Amino acid sequence: MHEDIKNILINEEQIKKRVQELGEQLSKEYEGKKVIMICLLKGAAYFACDLSRAMTIPVRMEFMVASSYGDSTTTSGSVAVRLDVKDDIAGLHVLLVDDIIDTGLTFARVKNLLQTKNPASIKTVAMCDKEERRMNGMEADYVGFTIPDEFVVGYGLDYAGDYRNLPYIGVLKPSVYART
Ligand code: IMP
Ligand code: MG
Repeated sequence: MHEDIKNILINEEQIKKRVQELGEQLSKEYEGKKVIMICLLKGAAYFACDLSRAMTIPVRMEFMVASSYGDSTTTSGSVAVRLDVKDDIAGLHVLLVDDIIDTGLTFARVKNLLQTKNPASIKTVAMCDKEERRMNGMEADYVGFTIPDEFVVGYGLDYAGDYRNLPYIGVLKPSVYART
């Protein structure tokens, strides 16, 4: 385990199993539909790539950047969308994927924006859900893991750009953010 990690919350095996389950569920529910996965960079990249490979129906991939954090561990409250979808999503079934739903501001903002592009439907997929932190009643349609209100890193989740490639999801030692 990395020395900056306090404890592992979800291990590699648990992640694999859950991604597989979600992939199978989505494949059933979206059978016969034209699906486009929209992955929020950079955090959701690891999860979205694995999830799309766990799906047995055709899935297109698109990417957007929505950032609310800067380098701190709490949201700045405003969400900036820095790259809009290039593909035409009109008539397609959108699966909007993020690494974690926290306050809910990111999903709310991006979903609103995508709605204006006339997709057939939009559903949200969050790898992790910190339910207690919600500020706006936003809920993810599909959730990998519901987790307690602790700052986590790994499997795409970062702190100031670091720890994304850890193969597990772990709680970051508070002493790490006290250093900066
Ligand atoms: P929301 O807009 O508050 O729902 O926040 C979503 C974004 O906050 C995610 O895309 C993450 O980048 C970031 N975030 C929230 N909690 C954590 C965490 O525990 N670790 C790493 N990033 C987090
Ligand atoms: Mg993020």
